[in-house]
Amino acid sequence: MKGGQKAKSVKLTTTGIQILILVVTSAGDGIDYDHADWANAKFDVTGPMPEAIDAPVEEKVILTPRPGPAPKLNNPLVFGTRPGNPFIYRIPATGTRPMTFAVEGLPKTLKLDPASGILTGTSPDTRGEYAMVFKAGNASGQDERPFKLVVGDTLALTPPMGWNSWYIHYNRVTDAGMREAADAMVASGMADYGYMYVNIDDCWSKKRKDEPYRDNCGGILTNEKFPDMKGLTDYIHSKGLRAGIYTSPGPWTCAGYMSTLGYEQLDAQRFAEWGFDFLKYDWCTYEISDEKALHDYMKPYALMGEILKNLKRDMVYNLCQYGMGNVWEWGAKVEAQTWRTMGDVGFMSFLDAGLENCQYAAYAGPGRWNDPDYILIGWVGDARKMGEGAPVNLTPNQYYQYMSLWTMMASPLFFSGDMTRLDDFTLNVLCNAEIIGVNQDILGRQGVIVTQTEDYFVITKPLADGSIAAGVFNTSVVEQSVRVSWKELGLKGRQSVRDLWRQQDLGTHKNSIDVKLPLHGVVMLRLSSAK
Ligand code: GAL
Repeated sequence: MKGGQKAKSVKLTTTGIQILILVVTSAGDGIDYDHADWANAKFDVTGPMPEAIDAPVEEKVILTPRPGPAPKLNNPLVFGTRPGNPFIYRIPATGTRPMTFAVEGLPKTLKLDPASGILTGTSPDTRGEYAMVFKAGNASGQDERPFKLVVGDTLALTPPMGWNSWYIHYNRVTDAGMREAADAMVASGMADYGYMYVNIDDCWSKKRKDEPYRDNCGGILTNEKFPDMKGLTDYIHSKGLRAGIYTSPGPWTCAGYMSTLGYEQLDAQRFAEWGFDFLKYDWCTYEISDEKALHDYMKPYALMGEILKNLKRDMVYNLCQYGMGNVWEWGAKVEAQTWRTMGDVGFMSFLDAGLENCQYAAYAGPGRWNDPDYILIGWVGDARKMGEGAPVNLTPNQYYQYMSLWTMMASPLFFSGDMTRLDDFTLNVLCNAEIIGVNQDILGRQGVIVTQTEDYFVITKPLADGSIAAGVFNTSVVEQSVRVSWKELGLKGRQSVRDLWRQQDLGTHKNSIDVKLPLHGVVMLRLSSAK
């Protein structure tokens, strides 16, 4: 119902009902103003009075076993770069340090630091595939894993992973906050799972009315919170991580800071000189004619795309224009690797965002990813108030749903909460190598919903080795048991089933498997034909 409408009476026969739950859900148009007034609601009861029960408490259960002391390499199997560009890559591996790294087949233009596992140098000048083997050893054992550097035109052959400053720092972002995040990405172990971009969002340039915005040559100036951009990216790079920056094709960013209109080439060049490896390009104040023709939407993005492609630096290009003009249909044409498919996830429920993003699965693939925005778990600042961080309003099981859904959608995996307040539980949700492995699978297919009822949905994602990942998500208000059939998953015959969150084999199954879903819960499976 909408505000101001006349009251409606609702009659419900409760005969035989043992548990009755009154739920307020999203009206399907975002969560703004969704609430319920149980005005004068009452139960007329005959017989014994109903008893009020508390909602079940969800414990923060860590499902994933901690990695052992022996090295385990977690790199994606492929990585894209353009020829002859600066290259930096920290080989992701869990296990006790000190650890010694080696690389078989390392191109001559690259150098490995064996103690940190950081590769630096320039990518080979000649296009082609450079097959390597990463090796890591320590006192407890060793591991090796292939890595193929693909030198060509396509960046982000698997979804980019990292952290973005927006939902925790907002306009409070500083150089120190960025360095702290880079430190935490390594210290927390996130970098050992492949998280690598440390990205500044809005609010690093000069604020409106705080002139001058540019130097005498037109070069964009930073505000006082970013005294030395080159120093900052050097610091981030010294950890083997990559750095990201943000601007808008309009005159001002969304938060009212100087942006790029009319200075596209100059700004992009400056970002490259500063050492940035990622650009988020946010529509904000860009204006077009009322016609709103497709080419109007594409124009500013095509302009920047062409500039970035020709820079002597790999810069992953992330479009942010909230899905206008069906951006998923043309994002790749303007040289972008990822594009936001809708508005800000901070203003909606993650499930609504995810389900919306699921519709565009057909457009995703290696080097072109639908972006449903950031992973907001742990400590996050309220988007409406650009608030200070606080524990996010999600239950523990919803943390698992959030990460599982982003994984299955082959979404960029960007955490945007507080890197300095990562508790064990949040970290464990962000860092399960088998879950991330599904996201980073080199087939690069976005999962599709194969079953959706009022109570649950199932997404499947085909994987490069012929197996599939399946996620079963509880959307009802109670725990439930669901039978998932091979028919709905498109499978035949006996299947070996693995529980990815618990990293446990569940044996082989014929025709179907029954899964138990706690309230707000998810089960993530990998199924491969059992020969
Ligand atoms: C929004 C964008 C957010 C954030 C913000 C900064 O338009 O969708 O992700 O970048 O601007 O002002």
